[in-house]
Parts: sequence; structure tokens; C-alpha cells
Amino acid sequence: MSGNIRTAAGVYRQFIDGEWVDNQTGTSFPVYEPATEEVMARVMEADSADVDRAVRAARRAFDSGPWPLKTPQDRAQILFKLAAKVRAELPKLAEIEALNSGKPIVEAEGDIGAVAEIFEYYGGLATKIPGMVNPVSANALSLSLREPVGVAGLIVPWNYPLLMASWKLAPAIAAGCTMVLKPAEQTPLTALMLADWFEEAGLPPGVVNVINGYGESCGAPLVEHPMVDKIAFTGSTEVGKAITRSAADTLKRVTLELGGKSPNIFFADADWEASVDGALFGVFINQGEVCSAGSRILVEKKIYSRFVEAMAEKAKTIKLGPPMDRASKMGPVVSKDQYDRVQSYLAIGKTEAKVASGGGRPKEFDKGYYIEPTIFYDVDNSARIAREEIFGPVATVIAFEDEGDAIRIANDTPYGLAAAVWSRDIYRAFRVVKSLRAGIVWVNHMQPTCTEAPWGGYKQSGVGRELGPWGVEEYLETKQVYINLDEKPIGWY
Ligand code: NAI
Ligand code: MG
Repeated sequence: MSGNIRTAAGVYRQFIDGEWVDNQTGTSFPVYEPATEEVMARVMEADSADVDRAVRAARRAFDSGPWPLKTPQDRAQILFKLAAKVRAELPKLAEIEALNSGKPIVEAEGDIGAVAEIFEYYGGLATKIPGMVNPVSANALSLSLREPVGVAGLIVPWNYPLLMASWKLAPAIAAGCTMVLKPAEQTPLTALMLADWFEEAGLPPGVVNVINGYGESCGAPLVEHPMVDKIAFTGSTEVGKAITRSAADTLKRVTLELGGKSPNIFFADADWEASVDGALFGVFINQGEVCSAGSRILVEKKIYSRFVEAMAEKAKTIKLGPPMDRASKMGPVVSKDQYDRVQSYLAIGKTEAKVASGGGRPKEFDKGYYIEPTIFYDVDNSARIAREEIFGPVATVIAFEDEGDAIRIANDTPYGLAAAVWSRDIYRAFRVVKSLRAGIVWVNHMQPTCTEAPWGGYKQSGVGRELGPWGVEEYLETKQVYINLDEKPIGWY
């Protein structure tokens, strides 16, 4: 199959029904390398006709053919094979991911390692999805069967391209669903590489289809399609709301992992060095293009000035550089659009608060979407830079008086994805944990993400949970079966 992934002219095809096929219109779109602003590939653009073709292939594979007959063991083996392939090809996948997204290669290697782990985890879980016997009357046996939800549409973003795809593909395969994956238009390449190994891993045709295109012309028709049973989406809150509205027409199951404006809270008694590092790491990792970025840094007044100074000093030592340089700690942001968007927030921030460090484009690059790690301080929590998700290397530092004040400010946001609290006082740390309205709360750290543990948002940060056993639940239906044991059950006539 590998020979056919691209046309003679080098354009990446779409993967539908187990084959590399051309799209219906013949149009393609460019894929950029954000460090050089140059085109690194071209990919066929799917529109609603291609979506329909991919969905029908997934529907057929779900309703008939070999897939429904595969056992949980078979699905586990497929996931283990995919994991092994990802591990074997890690250097190549990481390189493409780094060049295409802009993230430093060291981080890209971590992402791809995590992709393999996700496939392994759900390979293990595939054989551990039991049903239940329900405690009903003595004259009956009542069972709850867990069954795959059907055809799933998976729509993912560009900040962790293959990793976000794997968070959805792996549990959906484990559950026995079939699916259509639509990667982000900025970063389609690693998902296509993965698709080229599906046959070798033993996935029957049509079980996983991969098409590429833009949100409006490819994502939206996937959400509208009546043969799709479920949509799993990661991306902006705005698009999450649009998906929810559109999915209402066919009452699809919808899970959403959306934006955030996560508080990272520092009390005066916290370990100083770890705190300064944790504040920077929490917001600047992956150029700040992280749904759980600790973009609101709440600092107790007693240490506030010193903390801002220490952060600013250390931020100056963060090495920006090309993705393939192993010393780079931050690369360029993903695209011209995202660069412009972050720049516009830098301009807004300068009217709303003071700049402790950064604030613009680093002088040493004449090309590439690089942005300095920027720290705004004396920020009021009502400022736009404290309320709106920027999704770039921009921190806002906000002072607080005491524990109650910290909790109030932390929760004063429409979002509720993540939060962190730093303190040596365990009574206080746990009190704060209980008061925070967020789906993930760290104590004395920020950002570790565990394959085995639930991930998802409160409030406008999402619906449903990914990872761990929670992840597979979102791809299952429950069927109640009532088996009568009484030979004269009705007794009515
Ligand atoms: P987006 O939410 O528009 O795109 C994410 C995915 O959704 C892409 O695959 C896109 O093609 C698809 N999509 C877009 N419109 C759609 C529609 N109407 N129907 C179905 N699918 C659709 O995010 P975008 O425009 O790339 O970034 C804008 C902002 O969104 C960022 O600045 C950031 O604030 C936020 N974002 C949040 C992410 C997260 O992980 N929570 C990831 C990416 C972006
Ligand atoms: Mg968008």
C-alpha cells in the first residue's frame, strides 16, 4: 500500500476503505513548515462528497464484514501492532511532527512516545470491558451489554497532532467502533503516515478512514452526516459550540475537549525555585499552544514583586530556536494565522497591563513564526488577556491577597479545564483543590498528563473525559437485556 500514499506529483491522498484514493474535485492544499514559512507538502482537500464516501466506508465496515466479528483480543492485537510500529518509526514521526507544528524535536519525541503508550494502554483495555448482571427479580436475568457506539467522527487540532488523534483512535478501536479521522488542516502529515500502517496492523478496510480538509468544508459535513453516530472533537470552544448545535439535528453523541484559561496558583510558602520554573513551564511549554496552559499565574501579594522579577529573569534564558535543534525549548507557533492572533493579543495586553519580559518578535529570526515568551503583570482578571484563550507564549500574572481571594479569581472564568496550586501546606493545598472548578488539578506541578487518568473540562472547557477507562466509555453504548425465566410469564388472560 505504501507506494500509493502520494500521487506522482507528490500530493498526499486520502485513506478511505483501506486504500489511498484521490479526492473528487482534484484540489489540494499546502502544508507549511512554520520555522521557514515554506511549503513542506501538499495534501488532497476533502469536501462533503469525500466525507460522504469515507463515512459510508466506515458505516459498511461497522454494519458488516470482518470487523464486527473481531474479538476484543483481535482488537487488542491490532492496537499493540500499531504501538510497535509507532515506536519503530518514532524518529521519523517526531521529525515530521516537529517540522510541521514548530514544536522542539525533544518535545515531539515525547509526544510520539506517548502515542505508542496510548495504543498500548487501550490494547490492554480492549479485553477488559465487561458488562454486568443487574440485580432484578428472581424470574429474570437482566444483563447490561457494552456495545460500540457505531461510526465515530474524530476531529483534532494542530498543537499535538498525532497525540490528539491517538487519544480518540485508540479507545474507539478498543470499543469496536469504526471511524473517520479529520486531522487539522495545518498538520495532516503524521496521521497519514499512521494510516499507511493500518493494513499491516490488521485493521480491516473501512474501520479507520483518514481525510483532510478545512473546518467548514470537511469538518462540518462530517458532523452533519446522518450515518455518523458520534463526534469526538478537540479544538476551540467556539467550534465546540457550533458542533454541539449542528449535532443536535441527528442527536449524535458529542464529546468535546475545548479551550482553557487555567490558573496556576502560587502561595508564599511554596518551594521558590520549583515555583518559578513551574510558572514558566506551565505556560511556555509547546510555545503555549496547550489547552491546559497555565496562562493565569496567580501569586500571593507577599511574594508577588519578587516572583514577577524572577520569572522575567528566567524567561530571558528560554532558548527559542528551530524545531530540529535539540537545544531549542520553544519553536515558532504553528501558522501565520496563529502568529497574527497572538500578536494581536500582545497589542491588547500592552494597553491592559505591564510587560515584564518579551512582548514581540525575537530579533534573531528573519523568518518563521517566532514569538518571545511574554509575561504581562499587574493584570486584572477582567482584562481580555486574562479572560480569552490566547494559545501562544503569553502569561498573565495576577496578584491575590489570601486563599479565599485566590479561589475566587481562579474560578472567575468561563473555562474549567485545568488548574494548579503550589504550597507546602497540605491543608491549604487540598482545601484549594476541592474549591477549584476544573477537570484536572495539579499540586506542586503543572502539565503532567497520564494515559491512565481522566482528562477533560468543567464548564465551557468541554464535555466528557478522555484517557484511562473514561476514554473508552465515551465510545460505548449500554444495551439492557431482559431474559425471562418464568415459563408462564404473562398470566394476564
Ligand atoms: P479550531 O477549533 O477551528 O480547529 C480545530 C479543528 O476543528 C480543526 O481540525 C478544524 O479543521 C476543525 N474545525 C474548524 N471549524 C469546524 C467546524 N465548523 N466544524 C467541524 N470542524 C471544524 O481551532 P483553530 O482555528 O485552529 O484555532 C483557533 C483557536 O482555537 C486557538 O487560538 C485556540 O485558542 C483554540 N484551540 C484550542 C485547542 C485545544 O486543544 N483546546 C486546539 C486548537 C485550537
Ligand atoms: Mg478555526
